[in-house]
Amino acid sequence: MGPDAYRTAGLRESLEDLGHSVEDLGNLRPQGYAPDAEDNDLHALNETIAWTELLTETAESACARGFPIFLGGDHSLAAGTVAGAANHAKALGRAFFVLWLDAHSDFHTPQSTDSGNLHGTPVAYFAGRGGFEGFPKVQNPVKEENICMIGLRSVDAAERAALQDTKIRRHDMREIDENGIARPLSAFLEHVAAQNGMLHVSLDVDFLDPSVAPAVGTTVPGGATVREAHLVMEMLHDCELVTSLDLVELNPFLDERGRTAKLMVDLAASALGRRVFDRTTRSFS
Ligand code: ARG
Ligand code: MN
Ligand code: MN
Ligand code: MN
Repeated sequence: MGPDAYRTAGLRESLEDLGHSVEDLGNLRPQGYAPDAEDNDLHALNETIAWTELLTETAESACARGFPIFLGGDHSLAAGTVAGAANHAKALGRAFFVLWLDAHSDFHTPQSTDSGNLHGTPVAYFAGRGGFEGFPKVQNPVKEENICMIGLRSVDAAERAALQDTKIRRHDMREIDENGIARPLSAFLEHVAAQNGMLHVSLDVDFLDPSVAPAVGTTVPGGATVREAHLVMEMLHDCELVTSLDLVELNPFLDERGRTAKLMVDLAASALGRRVFDRTTRSFS
């Protein structure tokens, strides 16, 4: 339902208004996987493996054609979109980076998850943590120091313990409250620019505060405001480093008159260049 809600909310028109030419490649659907039992500890494991295979290939070829925006849907889709985008960067000989905008770190392995929801695992997958039996092997794991998480406010104990031993950059809401959201983002973008990197951005609806973005199954109070989120997106456009984007976890069934879908479309438009006034300076440096 997520992709169709974005279409209804005018994603194509918003991007065309900015002068972009937009090609809607339609909905994907994996085929031929063994049906998942309802009562498995890991929910929809076979389906998620099939999605990961399909999306890895699709993302790699889409990155070669333009600037792909992946619409979802469950955040487990990022296992495939990030793996595929990383393969594309590797083929070009470019360094690859991920900005994870989310209340959650999604750093569980299939062994450590309490909920059994694979949307809690994609970062562990593309960072090359073990334990993903049955999934395609990650060809080009994303380096820990090339991953930056902003918006954190719900991290499970096992994820916290695992993250502590990594170089993943993590910025929780306390830090944003104390220092503002531009500071950690600027620092990361400088790091990406220094290596002429390609940057994939994964935007989970629950990065946003539930009062402005209710249409997600995993709301956590105390999220980013509309203004903080637009600032992030505007800075991402100005830096000219972003090469692919996920808009994920939208559940239109939980929306109120489409306002979450509309906000996500407006954020995508900011990331792709919508402005109140033109600026001449890059927002970092
Ligand atoms: N950490 C929790 C879990 O593993 C929540 C994950 C939420 N992630 C998401 N993409 N909605 O179940
Ligand atoms: Mn989900
Ligand atoms: Mn997520
Ligand atoms: Mn989340």
